[in-house]
Amino acid sequence: MQHLFPFDSKICYNQRKSMMLQEPRLLWLTGLSGSGKSTLALRLEHYLFHEGYKVFLLDGDNVRNGLNKDLSFTEEDRKENIRRVAEVSKLMLDAGLVVICAFISPYEAERALVKETVGNNRFSEVYVNCSLQVCEQRDTKGLYAKAREGLISNFTGISAPYEAPSAPDVEVRTDEEAIEESLYKIITHAEQQLRMPERMKLSVNA
Ligand code: ADX
Repeated sequence: MQHLFPFDSKICYNQRKSMMLQEPRLLWLTGLSGSGKSTLALRLEHYLFHEGYKVFLLDGDNVRNGLNKDLSFTEEDRKENIRRVAEVSKLMLDAGLVVICAFISPYEAERALVKETVGNNRFSEVYVNCSLQVCEQRDTKGLYAKAREGLISNFTGISAPYEAPSAPDVEVRTDEEAIEESLYKIITHAEQQLRMPERMKLSVNA
């Protein structure tokens, strides 16, 4: 960009981390509509919060009601949706937070872009795997029925693609396992990543 002069804060990242007593990380949940992303994300946020982590959840249905109100579900707008969320997540991580994102995010390339934006070492991809058949049977929001009737266009799984992650950090099968089991897998991974080494905690007063 021309005529811009980005500058760094006088507070360094390690100072912020030490103050927050955690390793900032983005836990990115991807999967079909109705796969259980939001349910798991809410439970995960609740758990981590009560364990003392400073955590914030960004969810597609909510973010599209505010920041991304202007975006539709075309390929182009979905990409812009994810690009903006990646940038917001990056700011939140830089501020020291743990961020949970729950977005369909159907394109592998966009998820790779999120990882690149926030940094490889601050990103975990969680694949909320649920067969289309089960998502459609559940149809909690009634959207699959509408998509089949042609009332909703570009609907993921019906008239728009979903590219499953090829090497997620965690994969849960919400069509085969109980929610507690899926949650446990995600929490186990998350806690390994978020806990701050003791020596770092000490440096806050250094
Ligand atoms: S994404 O593809 O751009 O990542 P996002 O997660 O933000 O999607 O939003 C998905 C939510 O939007 C769904 O949970 C559903 O409630 C709603 N929605 C409305 N139209 C569509 C559509 N065409 N395809 C998928 N979800 C849709």
